[in-house]
Amino acid sequence: MAVKLLWYLTEPDGPVPWENDGRWTTGFDHLQQLATSIDKLGYYGALLATGGGFGNDVNTVAAALAAQTKRMRFVAALYPGLIAPAKLAQIARTIDRFTEGRLIYNVVNGSDAMLPSMGFHITHDERYDFSFEYWDAFRKLYSGSPDGYEGEYIKIAPYPPALAGMVKRQQSSAIQYQPNIPLWGAGTSAPGVAHSAKLLDVYLSFADKPHLLGEKFKRVGAEAAKHGRKLTFGTRLQIIVRETEEEAWEYAQYLVDRTSVQYAKDSILRQLPPGETFEGYRSPDPQVQKNLESIRAGKLPKARDYEIYPNIWTGPALHGFNVLGPLAGTTLVGSAENVAARIREFEANGTHAFILSGWPLIEEAHRVADLLFPLLDLDHGFEVPQLSSVRRSRYPLRGERHAQAAEESITPDPVTQAA
Ligand SMILES: Cc1cc2nc3c(=O)[nH]c(=O)nc-3n(C[C@H](O)[C@H](O)[C@H](O)COP(=O)(O)O)c2cc1C
Repeated sequence: MAVKLLWYLTEPDGPVPWENDGRWTTGFDHLQQLATSIDKLGYYGALLATGGGFGNDVNTVAAALAAQTKRMRFVAALYPGLIAPAKLAQIARTIDRFTEGRLIYNVVNGSDAMLPSMGFHITHDERYDFSFEYWDAFRKLYSGSPDGYEGEYIKIAPYPPALAGMVKRQQSSAIQYQPNIPLWGAGTSAPGVAHSAKLLDVYLSFADKPHLLGEKFKRVGAEAAKHGRKLTFGTRLQIIVRETEEEAWEYAQYLVDRTSVQYAKDSILRQLPPGETFEGYRSPDPQVQKNLESIRAGKLPKARDYEIYPNIWTGPALHGFNVLGPLAGTTLVGSAENVAARIREFEANGTHAFILSGWPLIEEAHRVADLLFPLLDLDHGFEVPQLSSVRRSRYPLRGERHAQAAEESITPDPVTQAA
């Protein structure tokens, strides 16, 4: 099986965007450049995160970048309920037509802290029942059903007969692309998994060690099978890839050196189990405990101290400094050969899509395309360009490696061979 590699199309940007002095002031021109790079480099698509109340609206970003791009998919994250499903179906149809079938929605269910501040009041577990109805109604409306929707939360009247005829005429004259918008999404709690199993096409999770992520995907897959459904799986990872291990870890150390102890402390506070305190918490993992004690004493441990598995790092990132364990900020760090081997290990454990980011976003998107694309089998549905013909011969494609090794009488690299 081959993999899909996606990038990240969300502000802020900069070399160390989690720190005030490492974040750039960017605008629409920067997003345009970023989208053009993602598109030209041949990524399958990019994630547009909700970005909280002050972030950009994802439908607007996707629509605004439609003409600028040709093949990348927009994976636009949306909370259910903030836009009425009939209106969202109309927006999605418009974007789908303007992008010629490149819209995907990322179903995020929000948090108790976030949704009330956007005028939406619903408890955690009920949110999933609501979300299921919302997206179910959306799908029916998007695909042109005139029948309305009669749910517990969502009630939509059928089209009046006169209007139904007009809509049918509009439908037959409009160019249709995707018969339905693919739904990707996440949910780790029990109601989150149950909801995902019934609704999603692609289930996403923050990364972990490959076999642990694989076990989680197996559990979610088994839930989906109970509904006669089959999901594919994807993960979210930050990435630092360089020609050699030394260069990659040097860059990881540079990021640590530019990160404040306060950022580490704030991230730990968000990650602590309920009822635990920064001063009092003890981790069962001796390395994590050691890191914690160092941070309590006001000193950040060295980059390598956050490596939890070969090439998997919980150092500082925009999405958190996951000192206590892997979460949204988990990062792949290493040489192109070793990072490719790790991606193949995730793939062997059921992961098909990888939503990646490294900062600055444009520069790192080029690095990943240059160093990593030639080493992986990519399932992007189009011919992915090779940036460098020189690199192509230095790092042959997977199937070609044995043949070339035999031809040149060199011993294939054991890490890559094992994967
Ligand atoms: C790849 C990925 C992307 C996510 N993007 C967003 C986002 O843009 N906005 C958001 O509020 N939550 C986002 N989340 C968080 C999820 O919506 C959800 O809160 C999290 O998976 C926990 O789910 P649970 O409450 O069922 O345990 C994302 C999660 C994943 C795995």
